[in-house]
Amino acid sequence: DWDMHNFTEQSIKEIKEKVGDKKVLCALSGGVDSSVAAVMVHKAIGDQLTCIFVDHGLLRKNEGDQVEQIFKEKFHMNLIRVNAQERFLGRLKGVTDPETKRKIIGEEFIRVFEEEASKLGQIDYLVQGTVYPDVIESGTDTASVIKSHHNVGGLPEDMEFSLIEPLRQLFKDEVRKVGEELEIPEEIVWRQPFPGPGLAIRVLGEITEEKLHIVRESDAILREEIRKANLHRKIWQYFTCLPNIRSVGVMGDERTYSHAVAIRAVTSSDGMTSDWARIPYEVLERISNRIVNEVDNVNRIVYDITSKPPSTIEWE
Ligand code: XMP
Repeated sequence: DWDMHNFTEQSIKEIKEKVGDKKVLCALSGGVDSSVAAVMVHKAIGDQLTCIFVDHGLLRKNEGDQVEQIFKEKFHMNLIRVNAQERFLGRLKGVTDPETKRKIIGEEFIRVFEEEASKLGQIDYLVQGTVYPDVIESGTDTASVIKSHHNVGGLPEDMEFSLIEPLRQLFKDEVRKVGEELEIPEEIVWRQPFPGPGLAIRVLGEITEEKLHIVRESDAILREEIRKANLHRKIWQYFTCLPNIRSVGVMGDERTYSHAVAIRAVTSSDGMTSDWARIPYEVLERISNRIVNEVDNVNRIVYDITSKPPSTIEWE
């Protein structure tokens, strides 16, 4: 794509001129926008950029390692991975309310980020993956009122940085083209949206290690099967969640009393409204069989067939 090629070259040049010999910081989440912004800035100024990746322990299976591998090993970026699982899970212990979970995670994220940033000395610029729809909607979308969408990329207001927002004029499909232009791997460029609070809002009610394990493993199976069926670019978001319901089942001559796992898959163009994805029955069957066979303590799978509105995409 010639336009995006030129845009990328031009932006890299501008970033280089703007930054000069100053230092730049980026909160990298592994999502499309922050990844593309970070790689672009890295192309412009190399090691003057430091990325901080906060692993809050609520990521999908292998996600933390994958992010580290891509940005450290493929792009040779200066990446600090903070393994803060225990801190986050500790603060979330006993918490059941969705908004309280978001608030705790947002606050803790900022705290961890600030602690790391303060070790780096003078920083003048901060990279953010703001895209055009963020600019026009800025805080007035209904979703942000219904749920306090704490974008984990969001940062402390009292930190004194100038912003670098190279994607401000772009829509998502253009961001993806720039990502391809920068040779960012498909797993990142075509990654489905993933909420900042991560699996914390997909384990309904109290978060425990066991429940996180169930949702993480079942989600990995679902993603693998969706990809095998070549549906991964057609469905906006697809994931499992744990409704926190146990029900009766049978295995051999034994009665079981185990968790139900829900499959959520939606089509959408912007996440504001959505329809449930019509995943073919054979694919659903494979997903269901694999989850009950491979994940302990699960004896039932349900499929969410509601649109947004009146539902939301996430269950919390
Ligand atoms: P809902 O569930 O409101 O989600 O239909 C709409 C889109 O937003 C994502 N989402 C979040 N993203 N922090 C985020 O960064 C959040 O707290 C949050 N809650 C929902 C959701 O995955 C979907 O893409």
